[in-house]
Amino acid sequence: MMPTATMTSTSVIPRRSHPSKLPDVGTTIFTVMSRLAAEHDAINLSQGFPDFSPPPRLVELVAGHMRAGLNQYAPMPGLTALRDAIAHQVMALHGRRVSTETEITITAGGTEAIFCAVQAVVHAGDEVILLDPAYDSYEPAVRLARGAAVRIPLRRPGFDVDWDRVRDAVGPRTRLIIVNTPHNPSGAVFTRGDLEALADVLDGTDVLVLADEVYEHMVFDGRAHQGGHDDDRHRGHYHRHGNRRRHHHHHRHRRHHHRADALERHRRGASDLRSLGH
Ligand SMILES: Cc1ncc(COP(=O)(O)O)c(C=O)c1O
Repeated sequence: MMPTATMTSTSVIPRRSHPSKLPDVGTTIFTVMSRLAAEHDAINLSQGFPDFSPPPRLVELVAGHMRAGLNQYAPMPGLTALRDAIAHQVMALHGRRVSTETEITITAGGTEAIFCAVQAVVHAGDEVILLDPAYDSYEPAVRLARGAAVRIPLRRPGFDVDWDRVRDAVGPRTRLIIVNTPHNPSGAVFTRGDLEALADVLDGTDVLVLADEVYEHMVFDGRAHQGGHDDDRHRGHYHRHGNRRRHHHHHRHRRHHHRADALERHRRGASDLRSLGH
């Protein structure tokens, strides 16, 4: 018999008896800025919309796989073929071998990855260092884990990190630092020196780094992205998340292979990914 699933739709209306856990948070900066951009017919630099279409071959492949009935749950960490492709890309771009099995998890976008990582490691009373201005989903994630955000302003005019201030902020309750390079909204990118300074500050601590590198493929002016894969000293500290969707339009494919031909489909998926250039 086919298992059945019940779909529910929930609308969350805060009531006095069920007050919001984050009453001061309001809506996201994306909603505010995108509304203003539409209102004033302005170029919307606030939200990272891809302003180009997905490659036609990708559209064809997705449609083909859906027509073939591949529309089921993926394994929880994500489709092996996709994780393999990411491991290959990390090797090609950064020369680092990462394990498909134990080091790569697919999420439905960066915000989910950040939220899950924060919930996984931040305990009640832990401190999390954020560099201001920061992507506005970080602090709510920290607060929902009952941690406290310690906010350190980036230096003007270049929005670079004052590592001495970060060093001063690290204490016995510090659990995590969230870094973002290339940085939204300023566009600042970490230098090699920043990675060195981060490693120095964390040396001898067990503070974890959450590296938000969703814009790693958008670095201009001949500069190079410097991130979590690029420095051995960070090994052990890093939870790094990139966003292939911003680069390649890969969405999480929630497919599950219950049937005997699952392996064959896996192989087909892998060769489709390869034929897209991975
Ligand atoms: C710095 C930063 N991190 C993460 C994200 C989240 O990306 P996603 O849309 O995949 O959730 C964004 C989105 O704009 C962002 O600006």
